[in-house]
Amino acid sequence: MIDVVTDKLIPNPDETHDESRQGEAFSPFKLDPNQYRKRFYIESYGCQMNFADSEIVASILNQQGYGATRNVEEADLIFLNTCSIREKAEQTVRKRLTEFRKIKEQKKGLLVGVLGCMAERLKAKLLEEELLVDMVVGPDAYRSLPSLIEEAETGQKAVNVLLSREETYADISPVRLNSNGVSAFVSIMRGCNNMCTFCVVPFTRGRERSRDAGSILQECKDLFNQGFREVTLLGQNVDSYYFQSLTSEVNTVPITFSMLLESIALISPELRVRFSTSHPKDITDDVLFAMRKYENICRYIHLPVQSGSTRILQLMNRTYTREWYMSKVNRIREIIPDCGISSDIITGFCTEEENDHEDTLAIMKHSGYDYSYMFFYSERPGTLAQKRYRDDVPDAVKKRRLYEVVEMQNKLSLESNIKDIGKSYKVLIEGNSRKSENDWMGRSSQNKVVVFPKINNELKKGDYVMVKVKSVTQGTLIGDIV
Ligand code: 5AD
Ligand code: SF4
Repeated sequence: MIDVVTDKLIPNPDETHDESRQGEAFSPFKLDPNQYRKRFYIESYGCQMNFADSEIVASILNQQGYGATRNVEEADLIFLNTCSIREKAEQTVRKRLTEFRKIKEQKKGLLVGVLGCMAERLKAKLLEEELLVDMVVGPDAYRSLPSLIEEAETGQKAVNVLLSREETYADISPVRLNSNGVSAFVSIMRGCNNMCTFCVVPFTRGRERSRDAGSILQECKDLFNQGFREVTLLGQNVDSYYFQSLTSEVNTVPITFSMLLESIALISPELRVRFSTSHPKDITDDVLFAMRKYENICRYIHLPVQSGSTRILQLMNRTYTREWYMSKVNRIREIIPDCGISSDIITGFCTEEENDHEDTLAIMKHSGYDYSYMFFYSERPGTLAQKRYRDDVPDAVKKRRLYEVVEMQNKLSLESNIKDIGKSYKVLIEGNSRKSENDWMGRSSQNKVVVFPKINNELKKGDYVMVKVKSVTQGTLIGDIV
């Protein structure tokens, strides 16, 4: 079933904004024998990049002698890693902050820090609006956390929201948090240069920059050696990855995304590679050919369309037309016929009319999306749309259109799954199924969740197994080991 969460609907809760993970706190050092002088508690909101950033924050704090705790009552430092993408995301964080008020009153010296996109968007204003906040730290300033904590400990408010053109945290090896031990996220680039008019990300995460290819490759190799079997390469716009080493005398050839993909695929055929998110304008044939060449590069592309109307796409500054996007989908299907495709869709963007909305429904059908992340437009302060256009579609209309988009996606997801009945897929086992310890849960290369009985006791998570699909629901393939 699709989760309906007021402003967004998520058929597969394991991607972009994983609803089940919103506000997740972690404690990776459960068995850590070290004695820490202070404990920190961190909760994460928003996209996968934010969850990956929290792993970097944990690593920086840990190196400085701070230990993590999952119990907020035990913490000396509370951090919220926040998201600004829609108004609702910010409201959730504000509400959460009020819940810390009591704890703060009871514990002298407890410090509260706001990290991430909301910190960057609101800067010092956040200190005025939320009096219990002691630290405001933007996404490029996490290295300065230890000194900001020291400053805040003296009773001063501490702020660092400087954005950087270089920071990629390349040398920091993230602490893997709440991981299933099978799949991990690896950040390969930060920021975004696209300037979609609805989007706050270019303002909160700054200019696009690519992480050193050598450090990415090393991190993926280390993960494989630790037993991980799947890496998801993360970035706001992974296909525009471009890295040229300025320090290495040997390797001065620029590395593109397809080259990076290929080099990671070559680590081992047993290591699956995924990536997210792709801007349709940047996913070129060389990426598609690399995907076709290596069985372990997963047949799945997240290709956000946002709208199916050329007029609206222009207002959004997406840089493609409806026809161009449709031919990109055709090209993907031509080169990789069994590729899964998913999308992001916004309903009720400025000036959207019924015929634009019909175009969105039609493009969804043409693309045959396996999943979509669907939202109604939420105007964000400071974005180009907010400055240039009027948010003139009534809320009720936005929501009705969203409902229709969701209905369409439900139909498409089920149709796509029904087509899989009788076929066999190679599945990477991630763990027990949610419903029964007698069943395994894993994913196909196309990123579909597959559930099947554990008849063979030899298997364990991280193993690959062939499963033949017997029946399906809208969100799951159900089968048997073959
Ligand atoms: N309102 C609604 N949805 C938005 N997104 C980005 N900005 C907004 C906004 N202002 C959606 C886009 C993007 C996804 C991550 O969030 O669909 O691809
Ligand atoms: Fe926002 Fe566009 Fe960048 Fe995605 S690519 S984060 S939608 S500006």
